[in-house]
Amino acid sequence: MSLLIHNTGMLVQTREEPVAFVAGRDMSQLPVIEKGWLLIENGIIAGFGPPDNMPSFGSDLTKIDAGGGYLFPAFCDSHTHLIYAGSREKEYTDKIRGLSYEEIAKRGGGILNSAALLHDTSEDDLFSQSMERVREIISFGTGAVEIKSGYGLTTEDELKMLRVIRRIKEETPLTVRSTFLGAHALPAEYRGNRRGYVDLIVDEMIPAIAAENLADYIDVFCDRGFFTVDETERILEAGACHGMLPKIHANELDYSGGIQAGVKHGALSVDHLEFTGDDEIAALAGSGTMPTLLPGAAFFLGMTDPPARKMIDAGLPVAMASDYNPGSSPSGNMKLVMSLGCIRLRMLPEEAINAVTLNSAYAMGLSETHGSITVGKKANLFITKKIPSYEYMPYAYGSNLVETVILNGVVVISRQSAVGHLRHILR
Ligand code: NIG
Ligand code: FE
Repeated sequence: MSLLIHNTGMLVQTREEPVAFVAGRDMSQLPVIEKGWLLIENGIIAGFGPPDNMPSFGSDLTKIDAGGGYLFPAFCDSHTHLIYAGSREKEYTDKIRGLSYEEIAKRGGGILNSAALLHDTSEDDLFSQSMERVREIISFGTGAVEIKSGYGLTTEDELKMLRVIRRIKEETPLTVRSTFLGAHALPAEYRGNRRGYVDLIVDEMIPAIAAENLADYIDVFCDRGFFTVDETERILEAGACHGMLPKIHANELDYSGGIQAGVKHGALSVDHLEFTGDDEIAALAGSGTMPTLLPGAAFFLGMTDPPARKMIDAGLPVAMASDYNPGSSPSGNMKLVMSLGCIRLRMLPEEAINAVTLNSAYAMGLSETHGSITVGKKANLFITKKIPSYEYMPYAYGSNLVETVILNGVVVISRQSAVGHLRHILR
């Protein structure tokens, strides 16, 4: 099956040669092709180029007229917690009234609140609540997503979450990577017995999850008030024995040592990084660990922003993800994440686009197949409305400019249906 996309305004993030990620100064380089075309064969990008070298194709080809819209590789959202039950807008109000994220957590709110809600929700109900979010992120242009457990905190409920993630992997066109995050918070019944909970994670949860092959990665919330570096290292080592690569939460609340622990254990990424100083930058330099920023979380909680500029200027790569979760970032809108990267973190639009495509693909182990327009990569793409420039994407921060979404070479949301739908409701 072949599909030709033509009459684009621009192809964005075109890489003739595959690159794993871009770092430092290279992050401000964004290759594009004006008014380009792109050919998809059997779900894979088979060719692309400028308009003057478009081959003449036979009539058996399906053609999509992009109408001057821009063609992007679909977003790769390398850090989400989008499996959850209910919502936490009451805590949102508590925060407006002045309580901090940590104070809410200490009162049994926060992650423990979501764990209680999830415990009382059936696997089927959890799946359908999560599918609402999945449909929404696809409509925003996400084509690959990493999803964490961590609202279970018992073996049974962690398995429940991970089975829902597997179902999303099997039943939707998204590319999904799953992460076990049993060490997200200390359950109330283990207060005063931290060792007991870490034992449970190591001796029971990890083997049970590995037996069902439910997790690609392992995560720990390594931060002040959550899990220590020693506990983190023990959990990461146990995960490694079962083939789970680390991807950890680090330095959101303090200089926790999490970044160094992640690098030491060969983490694919360390995420959050609001507290990143010279020592942390030195640890990350030259490592294979992708520093991943979640500007939606700092924005939503009104907390310190990570020093993206300093990191990029020091030569590091940076990825960005949504952190979609009910407590610190109830949004999976990757275009908004780009805007926050530009506005709050002072990243250039080119840097932001690289951070949510190529570098975030790397942060979830997918840079060989996702994150750029490159021959041989999966045809996960979106076409925007007609826009004047790629900078317009982060600039127009409140508009969903994504009109057509193509996943695995198949149109899953089309411009025609979006326009048709609107005509219908406005009539
Ligand atoms: O990435 N920081 C830890 N975990 C999530 C928040 C989870 C929650 O509050 O429900 C995060 O921000
Ligand atoms: Fe998170």
